[in-house]
Amino acid sequence: MLKSDVMPSFEIEKIRKDFPILARQVHGKNLVYFDNAASAQKPKIVLDTLQNFYSQDYANVHRGVHYLSQISTDAFEKTRDALQVFIGAKHREEIIFTAGSTASINLVAQCFGEAFIGEGDEILVSGLEHHANLVPWQICAQKRKAVLRIMPMLATGELDMEKLPLLLTEKTKILAITATSNALGTITDLVNIIPLAHQVGAKVLVDGAQSIAHTKTDVQALDADFWVCSSHKLFGPTGVGVLYGKKDLLEAMPVYQSGGDMIKTVRYESSTYNELPHKFEAGTPNIADVIALGSALDYINNLDWHGAMAHEKTLHENLEKGLLGIQGLRIIGTAKHKAPLSSFVVEGVHNYDLGVLLDKMGIAIRTGHHCAEPIMDFFGVAGTARASLAFYNTQAEVDYFLESLKKAINMLR
Ligand code: ALA
Repeated sequence: MLKSDVMPSFEIEKIRKDFPILARQVHGKNLVYFDNAASAQKPKIVLDTLQNFYSQDYANVHRGVHYLSQISTDAFEKTRDALQVFIGAKHREEIIFTAGSTASINLVAQCFGEAFIGEGDEILVSGLEHHANLVPWQICAQKRKAVLRIMPMLATGELDMEKLPLLLTEKTKILAITATSNALGTITDLVNIIPLAHQVGAKVLVDGAQSIAHTKTDVQALDADFWVCSSHKLFGPTGVGVLYGKKDLLEAMPVYQSGGDMIKTVRYESSTYNELPHKFEAGTPNIADVIALGSALDYINNLDWHGAMAHEKTLHENLEKGLLGIQGLRIIGTAKHKAPLSSFVVEGVHNYDLGVLLDKMGIAIRTGHHCAEPIMDFFGVAGTARASLAFYNTQAEVDYFLESLKKAINMLR
């Protein structure tokens, strides 16, 4: 008998009780939250941490000798340690706190660009990117007089691996690529792509915003040079992001924002700058939310992760099976390896109208271009409806969603 056959099944009802919002109603119906790719819900431990921190332990960090400042600093830095372990970084100072994935990518585009990208150099961006991993590189290319190249995709929504060797040249300074597409769900083949980029001396930035809640991350095993994610998609608070960078690269990059905490000495003539990670963390950080992200990590670390991932994979397979059975519905993005999300369009029906009708039935999905207009252009659609799952979703919700979707389509046709 396989080990998995004797493992207890994932305790979904127990898990759901950890997320208070899942018990609420919307428009008189039980909430079905299928918008997890936009932002995930928060377990009670995260909410309690915020409440306790602000009511008992709050003070600024890195600045005071007093008791509360020490407690705050310790808790804040504990999240850095937890993240180091969570994503497999070699050094704790390789973890920089930012405001989100977008802020992390902007930091790299500006500072790596300034240090390493010059006139005529090339920046390669995958054709699967969210605007946040495209526009900062467009701006970087304009400022540095560099050339922006795009790695195309196939009709399945997978990247065209045959084109990659042609696009990587000795002029390529960086490849910016997502681990998982937010618009299509495609999981990219980083294990094979990153070494190819390294062969020509290019660095690789991985956008882990969509993969972090669905895959174990190991930045050293991947050999990613930069890697970013957001707390809010990992069941933590909004307003906190992570930038991982290899220490030598972060050290070689110029400072980003300037002010308190990022300096060593300041004179009117000039200043010297702090060491990593503080070099890139100017000003009072988002203390409480970083600490609460630590609680989200505790929650995930105590979860039956394999059970959770198997559960959401099964739900997603059933969701896609159901979608494929709906006449006139086309799934956009049919990659072999997908995160638990499905983007789709329905003939003769606008995705926005679908979103509105499903909302009235208590179902939250996302509609529109998903901040990925070039991807929509590629598929010749203005937008899609997107249902994205998390481990706290249930088969009953998938069934209700499919039933409600059919009803909504019939009403709109
Ligand atoms: N990037 C987020 C999404 O895909 C907001 O919905």
